[in-house]
Amino acid sequence: MDTHNEVLSVSGLHVSYGTKEVLRGIDYNISEREVVAVLGANGSGKSTSLNAISGFVGASSGRIVFNGTDITELAAHKIFRLGVIQVSQARDLFPGLTVEHNLRLGAAVRNREEIEQRLEVVFNYFPRLSERRNQQARSLSGGEQQMVAIGRAVMANPKLLLLDEPSGGLAPQFINEIGDIVQALKDDGATMLMVEQNLSLAFKVADRFIILRDGMVSDGGFVKSLEGNHDEIVRTIYL
Ligand SMILES: Nc1ncnc2c1ncn2[C@@H]1O[C@H](COP(=O)(O)OP(=O)(O)OP(=O)(O)O)[C@@H](O)[C@H]1O
Ligand SMILES: [Mg+2]
Repeated sequence: MDTHNEVLSVSGLHVSYGTKEVLRGIDYNISEREVVAVLGANGSGKSTSLNAISGFVGASSGRIVFNGTDITELAAHKIFRLGVIQVSQARDLFPGLTVEHNLRLGAAVRNREEIEQRLEVVFNYFPRLSERRNQQARSLSGGEQQMVAIGRAVMANPKLLLLDEPSGGLAPQFINEIGDIVQALKDDGATMLMVEQNLSLAFKVADRFIILRDGMVSDGGFVKSLEGNHDEIVRTIYL
């Protein structure tokens, strides 16, 4: 390996759905404790890029290396076991189960003591979920459901957390709450790849950003180097 603290390296990644090529050779990497935002217009391939890392969709070519292991061809459950945990755009909760039960399902296989510890960690990040632990997931607001989805991922003690639009469809108050939680995870040392359309959230939390355009990386850089001047980036993404 060339760099000791590189957690993820994606190189020359191509993904097709049938004859439609959606990712056309993308390259990026993430270092330990780094938060990278994936930006881009609707349909540019952001979710597909996360799904390829998680093993939910196969790569037609290219390489995905996680902590020195080539995971390109690995089954999704094995990638999960390695500590790559995704919160999908659809959230995928079990609506008829309680908050606590949904969270417990995220723990994968662990001993009882460890599960209780992780549950404690999650309830510390999300006091709102602690108060609602016995409520059915279907009865939660959209923002609270998103918290359960992120909390369930945190249950697995991820080494790399993939967040697909954590603020998607949420009102400003929840966007701020989710932003604070993502920031808290970062402060506690999480390594994250975060797809986000809300640029103020993305630029508040991320160290670095990449922009996908038609399945290619069209731009990227350090958030700091933008010095708050985000207009140019907005044009790059949407025009
Ligand atoms: N399972 C699938 N089968 C066929 N086409 C798909 C599938 N999933 C995604 N696509 C197509 O691939 C392209 C990229 O989709 P993707 O979901 O990765 O985009 P995105 O950048 O996440 O968009 P959004 O911002 O709307 O979430 C889109 O044109 C989409 O229609
Ligand atoms: Mg998407």
